[in-house]
Amino acid sequence: MAVHISDLLIDTYRGIKNLEMHNLSDINIITGDNNCGKTSIMEVFKNLNNINDINTWLDDIRGGHHKMLPYDVMENLFNIDSDRKELSYGVKKAISKEFLSLRLEAVREVSILSKNELREIASFPNDYNKEVCRFSYRIYCNNLCEKKGMVYNFPTPNIRGGNNSKKLTLVKVKYISPVEHITGDVYLPKVLDSGELYQEMLALLKEFDKNIISINTEKINHPYRNRKVYKVLVKGQKKELPLDVYGDGMKKAIFLMNAVVIAKDGILLLDEFETAIHPSEMNKVFSWILKTCQRFNIQLFLTSHSKEAIDKLLKCVPEFQNMIRVITLYKKENETVARVLEGREAIEAQDDLGLELR
Ligand SMILES: Nc1ncnc2c1ncn2[C@@H]1O[C@H](COP(=O)(O)OP(=O)(O)OP(=O)(O)O)[C@@H](O)[C@H]1O
Ligand SMILES: [Mg+2]
Repeated sequence: MAVHISDLLIDTYRGIKNLEMHNLSDINIITGDNNCGKTSIMEVFKNLNNINDINTWLDDIRGGHHKMLPYDVMENLFNIDSDRKELSYGVKKAISKEFLSLRLEAVREVSILSKNELREIASFPNDYNKEVCRFSYRIYCNNLCEKKGMVYNFPTPNIRGGNNSKKLTLVKVKYISPVEHITGDVYLPKVLDSGELYQEMLALLKEFDKNIISINTEKINHPYRNRKVYKVLVKGQKKELPLDVYGDGMKKAIFLMNAVVIAKDGILLLDEFETAIHPSEMNKVFSWILKTCQRFNIQLFLTSHSKEAIDKLLKCVPEFQNMIRVITLYKKENETVARVLEGREAIEAQDDLGLELR
């Protein structure tokens, strides 16, 4: 396990104002009521992977880009009650103790673009020969402008401006959404190439179906791209079945295991980590995740509103309890506040007082 980021201070991001989270630990369980800001915090952490690329903000983890233009996704990052189009936060790196302040500032402009400008940015320039709204934005790190560009309110093939500067990664981050096992594509080369991890995955999957013998990849013909499907062989069945036809619990476990492998030496964000996993499988799956994060030097952030899942996570590897923090978010006078309990305190609070951690 590892602590890569020790403190997170959010001045303003979406509905969160003046939130301070200090002494972050190896395993951080973020809980609290619906709409208290758990996923928003995950979004802020996710951005640390590529802090000077606007796409990291706009490839919104709420699936926004499927429904909204990047311009609209961007608009909703800024607090709705504020006139300033700004989001700002800071993080402290655990090892160097260095504090970095990060800021995205935008100005909304309305203008008629020149034909040349249109040709450069619009998929079908003739259709858009009219007034357009755009955000001109700047991304600052420690008050130095790292990137500037434009985001327009119409679909463009190559906008968002200046993707040519170097990727600025504060820490490697992998995020898994609550529904990724349903909407996402599974891609397991790192697991399948490692004999040890593959055997561990099979052992865990046997918790879901004890007759599973193997998982293999198979190339399929696809008109546009090379695609692979993962196939599962089960004792007593004549042929392999595609992983897609298996239950959500097993698919979720596969996504979680794969994410752990990808997040090596970085931060792993598991939003509503328990979704689709039956309580009877939780101990085995959660303890594998915690132990492998320890092995792979990963700092873990998990969100949940399940008392049962939080309880199982707190207790599944007793020797890790002192590395766990339970962070409960709540709103107080228009600000977001975090109450922090250490793992053992959280268990005692639950056991002795019947206290709700959520
Ligand atoms: N641009 C914005 N300005 C103000 N508030 C916002 C903005 N964008 C989102 N919010 C608020 O953020 C809240 C949602 O935050 P978030 O999705 O992080 O909550 P959550 O704790 O993950 O909830 P759940 O448990 O239901 O997943 C809502 O109350 C919403 O009104
Ligand atoms: Mg959420």
